[in-house]
Amino acid sequence: MTTTTSPVLSASGVTMRFGGLTAVRSVDLTVNSGEIVGLIGPNGAGKTTFFNCLTGLYVPTEGNVTYQGDILPPKPHLVTQAGVARTFQNIRLFANMTVLENVLVGRHTRTKEGLWSALLRGPGFKRAEAASKERAMELLEFTGLADKADHLSRNLPYGEQRKLEIARALASDPGLLLLDEPTAGMNPQETRATEELVFAIRDQGTAVLVIEHDMRFIFNLCDRVTVLVQGQKLIEGTPDVVQSDERVIAAYIGTPFEGAPGDDEVAEVEAAEAEAAEAQQDTGPSGTPKSTTARTEDGQ
Ligand SMILES: Nc1ncnc2c1ncn2[C@@H]1O[C@H](COP(=O)(O)OP(=O)(O)O)[C@@H](O)[C@H]1O
Ligand SMILES: [Mg+2]
Repeated sequence: MTTTTSPVLSASGVTMRFGGLTAVRSVDLTVNSGEIVGLIGPNGAGKTTFFNCLTGLYVPTEGNVTYQGDILPPKPHLVTQAGVARTFQNIRLFANMTVLENVLVGRHTRTKEGLWSALLRGPGFKRAEAASKERAMELLEFTGLADKADHLSRNLPYGEQRKLEIARALASDPGLLLLDEPTAGMNPQETRATEELVFAIRDQGTAVLVIEHDMRFIFNLCDRVTVLVQGQKLIEGTPDVVQSDERVIAAYIGTPFEGAPGDDEVAEVEAAEAEAAEAQQDTGPSGTPKSTTARTEDGQ
């Protein structure tokens, strides 16, 4: 583990109100270089809203956010350009593009050619194309999706769609990666693989801030954990400190896991995957599995 502790991200006094509802209330949070920081809290605690405030989707009602010392601009693409990338709680992929194309779209903030040039294959695009493709393939290797490069993203099983979102986010060469429930809907093996992936991302020099309901995942992974309850920071500390805090146990960890958020989704995904596996057996190993887990552009 690295010993550098310069702040990459610093949020101070961030408040987000929607009409009469204060979803996030005066939250301070710092992520240092080399760190993996966890953000936990019950459903509706304001975690995703806080992410949206960090990434320019929302302009906070109060407070400010700096990345490497500079105030972040209130526009998502400028935040990405500055070096902060994210994934979404509800997957947002281009369902009818291939896996490789999805990563190439994530790359466009780092190439001189814009998105439209990339999509329309304009004259300047060809030159940048080879380099971008090479980098995108590297990222697919890194996330374990290289052999699916030519598949349509909507045909990937759910867990692999989540990995693809991570690959696409990494394509912008971020200094900070924000992950919103990266293991939701994953089976235990996929969750463990994601843990390894996040460690590898950190080891390559990208700091990580991660929202997740899976406590084992969070406490294994994170250097520090912040707990939000009703929009406010309840406690922040090392996994040991947070795990043993009675308020955290009462407010969050103590809730029965049978009813934990995501269970319905897990069941749904498992059924879809079983169906996909059957379809694959029917069509032989080279066939493209039918999948019902494709996600669209809506949602958070
Ligand atoms: N765009 C919005 N407009 C109004 N209320 C919102 C909006 N986004 C989130 N909220 C509300 O803010 C609160 C926090 O939601 P959210 O940030 O999604 O929580 P979490 O991610 O911790 O489950 C909830 O009460 C939610 O209904
Ligand atoms: Mg959320």
